[in-house]
Amino acid sequence: MPVISVPYAFNEEDLYVDLEPMTGHRLFLKCEGFNFAGSIKLKAATEMVESAERNGILTRDSILVESSSGNLGVALSVIAASKGYRFVCVTDSRCNLAARLMMEALGSQVHVVSDEHAAGGLLGARLAHLRELCAADDRYVWLSQYTNPDNWRAHYGRTAPAIARRFPQLDVLFIGVGTTGTLMGCARWFRAWHRPVRIIAVDSVGSAIFGHPPGRRMIPGLGMSVRPPLLDESYVDEAVRVEEADAIRACRHLAERGFLFGGSTGTVVSGATSWLDRHATPGLTPVAIAPDLGERYLDTIYQSNWVEALYDDDALPPPVERDDGRTDREEHASDGLLP
Ligand SMILES: Cc1ncc(COP(=O)(O)O)c(C=O)c1O
Repeated sequence: MPVISVPYAFNEEDLYVDLEPMTGHRLFLKCEGFNFAGSIKLKAATEMVESAERNGILTRDSILVESSSGNLGVALSVIAASKGYRFVCVTDSRCNLAARLMMEALGSQVHVVSDEHAAGGLLGARLAHLRELCAADDRYVWLSQYTNPDNWRAHYGRTAPAIARRFPQLDVLFIGVGTTGTLMGCARWFRAWHRPVRIIAVDSVGSAIFGHPPGRRMIPGLGMSVRPPLLDESYVDEAVRVEEADAIRACRHLAERGFLFGGSTGTVVSGATSWLDRHATPGLTPVAIAPDLGERYLDTIYQSNWVEALYDDDALPPPVERDDGRTDREEHASDGLLP
């Protein structure tokens, strides 16, 4: 086991879950949630900060500022605390509470915007707020994960080669998309090394990444209300879209086997499973990427009241009745654990 002195020095890069018992398909899930930021975003955050340091953009009195729905904000909070920078995260009302509390615990400031921008939705509102901050004080440094090539370079340098080392015969790679940093870094690496790997992007219904009209999305991390500037579709073999209710069902199915993953992992696993239902051939080696773990979603996708209020009943398994005749949900409500 390594001994570290800075929190971004550790990242578990070689852990996979064999999903065959849970999905009925040969499918390996690369777990990216085992580091001190709890998500794949630690790699993009480290690459962007260290590149800005090398280029002289970040100096001792800089204040980092970034728009994030949670995970990049947590990752930047970890790095900023360790390196001694101040960090302001601009997020919106969909950011999960746990991520926000983590950022604050790490010493960051969190600005939450709640009024949608007329054209750009909540993301537009976040970006407008960020531009105002940067215009008012030139100590602010905006790393801009949506446009910064160091976002995808992190995955070109680390995520893709790690997968290729473990699965030299990889056939298909399923990658959830937000900024598309993970997708573009991996896709570019496999193309540059002439590996015949099918790159399948997995997006949420309601996301505008692949040209569909934007709609309601409640699971943070995955999807975007505009086309991501980093995306180059010529690297993508196929894009699969997943209903959020299906993503939640996939999360809960994995949790029943003791694997508590985040919402975007449910999306990727659901998308990969339905793709494999249609295309699986014997001997195929598919890998999917799990960006984070489930603790940040306990009060949303693992909370039955939240799910019931937003989705059709079929996103949830039937409530389990306990010995006293009440359901878990009723007990939580009477204990004041639920709204
Ligand atoms: C949980 C989660 N899933 C998926 C993604 C999408 O990754 P990318 O921005 O590299 O497309 C993110 C990005 O923040 C995330 O936090």
